[in-house]
Amino acid sequence: MTSVIVAIDGSAASGKGTLAKKIAAHFDFAYLDSGSLYRAIGVSVLRKGGDPTNESQAVAAAKTLDIAQFTPEDLRTEAAGVAASQVAAIPSVRAAILQFQRDFAHTPPQGKRGAVLDGRDIGTVVCPDAAAKIFVSASLEVRVGRRIKELRGKGEAVIEARVRADLEARDARDSSRAVAPMKPAEDAWQIDTSALDPDQVFDLSKIFVADKIAKAAV
Ligand code: C5P
Repeated sequence: MTSVIVAIDGSAASGKGTLAKKIAAHFDFAYLDSGSLYRAIGVSVLRKGGDPTNESQAVAAAKTLDIAQFTPEDLRTEAAGVAASQVAAIPSVRAAILQFQRDFAHTPPQGKRGAVLDGRDIGTVVCPDAAAKIFVSASLEVRVGRRIKELRGKGEAVIEARVRADLEARDARDSSRAVAPMKPAEDAWQIDTSALDPDQVFDLSKIFVADKIAKAAV
């Protein structure tokens, strides 16, 4: 049976991860946070005292990646996000984890009948054949506020100007890189979450995805 693929892309702190988890739970699909792969590669380079912009170090980390070596806390720091976007700008790093993502989408674990993947290039590069594509955005101000709340909630010391600068630098790097830049797929449904709470985003998206799934099944 062909897996039903839902691609959810968007900028940092746009709410795409929260949405992707809810969509996966609702439809009982497998979920892959592709950003966590880039974060793990970035953190593993940092742990060795290396430089995430160094191609050979980043590719070596990508090829030997063992995601079990990282807790969610290791991966969700702002430093991990910055390192992730540095390794993610290296084409050979992206190539090293492309097939893993495609296999997950097309043959989801635990025999699930579908998969939700979130990231920057899922609808454009990893799974251009996805049944439903969503591109999530929000204003910089709103995203800075959300990220500060998330970091404070984890007890991290937060400097607002630093969070804003990191997000801006990450957006710029993610959208301007030569390979798989962050951009909506032509057939993506776009949602701006600036003025919406997570339940509202989920309710609207659920209707869109259910409709796409029904059409894909015909
Ligand atoms: O989504 P998240 O903020 O966890 O992603 C961390 C970084 O990983 C992003 O800023 C981006 O540079 C990179 N990324 C990517 N392609 C993806 C997912 C994440 O380039 N599909």
